[in-house]
Amino acid sequence: MYAKILVLFGLALLPQLEALGTFDPNVICGLVVNGTKMNDPRACNAWVQCIDGEPVSGTCGSGLFYDRESEECLASDKVKCVSSDPCAALANGFTADPYSCNGYYYCQNGKGTHGACSPGMNYSPGTEDCIRNFPCAAKMDPDSICNILPDGVFIKDATNCNGYQMCWNTQVLNGTCPGTFYFSASAAECVYPKDEVCAFTPAPVIAAEGVCPQAGVFVSDNSTCNGYYYCRELADGEISLEHGVCSEERFFVATDGGACVPRSKVKCDYDRCVGLGNSTIQLANESNDGCRGYSLCQDGSVIGQGTCPQDEYFDEVSQRCTTQVISYPACQLSSDTTVAPEAEPTV
Ligand SMILES: *[C@@H]1O[C@H](CO)[C@@H](O)[C@H](O)[C@H]1NC(C)=O
Ligand SMILES: *[C@@H]1O[C@H](CO)[C@@H](O)[C@H](O)[C@H]1NC(C)=O
Ligand SMILES: *[C@@H]1O[C@H](CO)[C@@H](O)[C@H](O)[C@H]1NC(C)=O
Ligand SMILES: *[C@@H]1O[C@H](CO)[C@@H](O)[C@H](O)[C@H]1NC(C)=O
Ligand SMILES: *[C@@H]1O[C@H](CO)[C@@H](O)[C@H](O)[C@H]1NC(C)=O
Repeated sequence: MYAKILVLFGLALLPQLEALGTFDPNVICGLVVNGTKMNDPRACNAWVQCIDGEPVSGTCGSGLFYDRESEECLASDKVKCVSSDPCAALANGFTADPYSCNGYYYCQNGKGTHGACSPGMNYSPGTEDCIRNFPCAAKMDPDSICNILPDGVFIKDATNCNGYQMCWNTQVLNGTCPGTFYFSASAAECVYPKDEVCAFTPAPVIAAEGVCPQAGVFVSDNSTCNGYYYCRELADGEISLEHGVCSEERFFVATDGGACVPRSKVKCDYDRCVGLGNSTIQLANESNDGCRGYSLCQDGSVIGQGTCPQDEYFDEVSQRCTTQVISYPACQLSSDTTVAPEAEPTV
């Protein structure tokens, strides 16, 4: 269950830490192996090295730029400086926007003003003007960590326990550890989960006003018959939503603080095939049809519908049409049935 919550909320988090606009050496140093040295994206002559998880910065001598591949300071004309600050390499004059084909910067005393060519024109660094259809090689992704790290360095994915990335020819390659292994930033490899504290804690999803009647109750996720949220009170008094799923053959009802009850007792208008039809096709009745119709379920989704012959009722429990009158609350026509909670969902 806990793992499911991690995955669910992990997907909702965008991997923002890559954004160079908010370059934070402290964050990156928590994700790479001890000793990793990188270009400081804010300047051409500066570098950052991660020592025991802490960033240590340095700058090159006069006239030298930091070269991330050789990890040395080289003559500035020998290093193609790619920086989030385009005026880092050129104090005065025009320079191309490293991230777009038609953009350029005018730098004055190291401060840049952005400009853009008219539509259809690209900036030509050689002639310093805008030329129609001037050929432009693919530009870099402004948010890529591969703008600053050398090729071949592993970077732990901060949004989950088992993912990592690596830069190759300035492209980001994504990887995932096999099976249950976790990626260890300090070892730069996949390790047994017992050997790695996965510090990834998802940011809580704060419940909007009115979603939770009070803390400590369960509410429907309003998209599946068996999914719910637990309303957990946080230290600051806000309420977070933690997603969960009822065990097999049970659907969620929100009455009395929420419960998972046998599916035949629950009227639910979302896909009733959820949890059915994994290995063979299974049948599920439909809600509100007097227990005459059924759905064909495969891999948890409806793939078709049917109706029992006249005077017959569909019995989901025996999976067949029968002349016996069936009146499960789930498929009854009028919905005045009250359902007693039988099992608390678990979190
Ligand atoms: C990390 O690297 C630094 C410099 O290379 C070294 O002095 C230090 O002992 C290393 N720390 C660990 C935990 O290996
Ligand atoms: C790698 O993963 C990131 C998110 O973690 C995603 O934005 C990116 O598109 C992926 N790249 C590739 C090549 O799959
Ligand atoms: C789902 O709908 C019910 C009834 O409208 C509402 O009380 C509940 O807060 C909703 N759940 C979520 C997660 O929005
Ligand atoms: C369909 O009816 C069966 C009994 O015939 C019941 O167990 C089941 O919950 C019902 N399903 C739906 C979708 O109404
Ligand atoms: C069907 O598959 C889903 C997803 O793989 C799983 O969560 C569910 O427990 C399975 N149900 C049964 C009855 O095996």
